[in-house]
Amino acid sequence: MVIADGAVDLGVKKDRAYLLAKKQRHEPVVMLTAYDYPTAVAEEQAGIDIVLVGDSVGTNMLGYASEAEVTMDDIVHHTRAVRRGVQNAYLLADMPYHSFETPRVALRNARILLEAGADGVKLEGGVDQVGIVRALVAEGIEVCGHIGFTPQTLGSKGRIQGKTLEQAKLLVESAISLQAAGAFMLVLELVTEDISRLISERLTIPTIGIGSGRFCDGQVLVVTDVLGISRVTFKLARRYQEYKNLTLQAIEAYRQDVESHRFPSEENVFATKSEELALVESWLREGGTSS
Ligand code: KIV
Repeated sequence: MVIADGAVDLGVKKDRAYLLAKKQRHEPVVMLTAYDYPTAVAEEQAGIDIVLVGDSVGTNMLGYASEAEVTMDDIVHHTRAVRRGVQNAYLLADMPYHSFETPRVALRNARILLEAGADGVKLEGGVDQVGIVRALVAEGIEVCGHIGFTPQTLGSKGRIQGKTLEQAKLLVESAISLQAAGAFMLVLELVTEDISRLISERLTIPTIGIGSGRFCDGQVLVVTDVLGISRVTFKLARRYQEYKNLTLQAIEAYRQDVESHRFPSEENVFATKSEELALVESWLREGGTSS
């Protein structure tokens, strides 16, 4: 079946069972953020397993200074746009900072994200969030945990996690208790490769790493880093395109074309038939007033 913008629906719904089966077969799960409809269509077409409407939308798309500024309205707006472009990929929406402070608040907000089109929600935090995860799972909501570097609360502090016994213990305990609480998947952000491997080996649910090495069950990147839109190149990412340069080149070429009368050209214009034009000109010569 052909869907929006020529994307092809191959009919395999990438639900949690599909993702779990990938871990069991040792096939890497591929996750990528998307914040808008055209990018969602491209990701669906490219066969991405999980499309994440991350709170990284704030710094990458909305010009915010940090993830902590992202609101429920922001995530709802972008989730709706991405939903229109995604059919088979799993659509995961991030719960913004302060949107899951109590089980009741978390439940209300998670349901809003599901209504906007998400298949499941992701929330940051380890052992401290186990009660919230349990409450959401009890209501049938699919929850992905997120431990390691957690931008909503850690800001720019202590980026790489798992370098000491104390940090590693907290990560392992968090991972095991989130799984026990019913989380169906776990994002590990900026965790050392050694500790990510130990966690991934111990969990039955898939782990998805960002800056967490080669032994996670899957990988996630921020799409603006992949496309080369971001200002900086992070060690954890790989740029597959230089979109920022391409965008600038295109916009500059457009400005130059308009300024030098090269745009619009004959191929961009619409004509009035000569007989009709003659009538208009004669009407104007006669004063151009309506009868
Ligand atoms: O918001 C986001 O993009 C994320 C990823 C870094 C996992 O949470």
